[in-house]
Formats: sequence, structure tokens, C-alpha cells
Amino acid sequence: MSELVLEDRHKTLPDHALDQLFRGARTFYTWEDKDVSDTTIQALYDLLKYGPTSANNSPARFIFLKGAAKERLRPFLIPSNIDKTMSAPVTAIVAWDWEFHEKVPQLFPHDPGAKEWFASDEARKANGVRNGTLQGAYLILAARALGLDCGPMSGFDAAKVDEEFFASDPKMKHWRSNFLVNIGYGTTEKLFPRLPRLAFDEAARILK
Ligand SMILES: Cc1cc2nc3c(=O)[nH]c(=O)nc-3n(C[C@H](O)[C@H](O)[C@H](O)COP(=O)(O)O)c2cc1C
Repeated sequence: MSELVLEDRHKTLPDHALDQLFRGARTFYTWEDKDVSDTTIQALYDLLKYGPTSANNSPARFIFLKGAAKERLRPFLIPSNIDKTMSAPVTAIVAWDWEFHEKVPQLFPHDPGAKEWFASDEARKANGVRNGTLQGAYLILAARALGLDCGPMSGFDAAKVDEEFFASDPKMKHWRSNFLVNIGYGTTEKLFPRLPRLAFDEAARILK
């Protein structure tokens, strides 16, 4: 499948799929006491990895915290994010790798010069954050597609999370946390009413 171009791709997904991905999907703060299996986490990655990035550079890196490992995050969360995170079956640290360009020859093999596009710190930061954030969004949508719920969060001390999880590991010391995503099977008790969204005319223009 992944090697083929889907022939009937120009069809709108059924309404229930659009509801599950967007219109009916919410940000969740409380969770069923139900594990998200390691197999499901792998399946999640195996979907999100197909989301597009610049020159296929794929700078996002993911740490999926379960069980006792989540406790390592607790000191670095803002107080209002602690309960929702500690009760979630999984919390993903969505990070990006300052050294992502080292994998560009593997990821963009037809253009041996592509790694050099990301030679400067400025290019690496702009591309790492831009594409790493996109990949975090792909994670949220892939999770919803698999029937999971998410609670993304930026209320944490990123520098301290980097120190705790990445600094001492030679393979991860260049990773930088971007945002967190609680993942699981959400419960509705702490859901507030859906917040308004900008109307098309406020947020978009069609120019002809
Ligand atoms: C990048 C990002 C960071 C967020 N940070 C927090 C956070 O630190 N704490 C929190 O309770 N909610 C956080 N949120 C949740 C948003 O407030 C929520 O997704 C938004 O209001 C839309 O809610 P809805 O999906 O239920 O419509 C964050 C969402 C995103 C995407």
C-alpha cells in the first residue's frame, strides 16, 4: 500500500471519518483507565511518519512515556497540567533533532546535496521547528484516526525536560522538546463546551 498511489484518493472521506478527525474530536483532559498498547504506539508512528516534511527531512523525534517513566515529567509540568498528564496512559514528548540533517542523505537519497540546505543553525532551527511541529500535528490526527484521543500541551519547562530526558544520552543530546501530547481514551467529564473558531472570512482569503 505505502508504495502505491491510492487510486481512489480523490474522494471525500465519509462524514463519520471527518467527525472523528476534526468536527467531533476534542482536546481531552481525563482518561479511561485503559492501556494504549506498545503495538498501537508503533501503529501510530507508522501512520504519522508519512506526513510530508521539507525535503522529507523528518526532524521530529518522539518519546512515548508510560507507567513510572511519566513520573520523570511531573516536576517540569505547570501545576494545571499535572493531573491530566499523570492520569493519561501515554504522554508523548514531541521533540525535534538539531542534527536532523545527518539523516537527510538517507531520507532524500536522490539529491546528495540536500544535507547542505540545512547546514546553518538558522536553517536547522527554522526547518526543525516547522517540520517537527507539523509532525506533531500528524501525530494528533493519526491518533484520532486510530480511535485514540489526545491532549496537547505546551505548559511545561522544555529546557528541564531536555535535561532530564535527552542531555545524558549521546544519541538524543541534540533533541529539543517542542510540545507534549497526552494520548489515550478520553472521558468527557472535564470537557468544556467547544470554543469558537474563526470564520473563513476572518482567517482566510481566496485570491484569483
Ligand atoms: C500546542 C498546544 C499546546 C497546548 N497547551 C495546553 C496546555 O499546556 N494545557 C492545557 O490544558 N491545554 C493545552 N492545549 C489545549 C488547547 O487549549 C485546546 O486544544 C484548544 O482549546 C482546542 O480545544 P478542542 O480541541 O477541545 O476544541 C494546547 C493545545 C495545543 C495544540
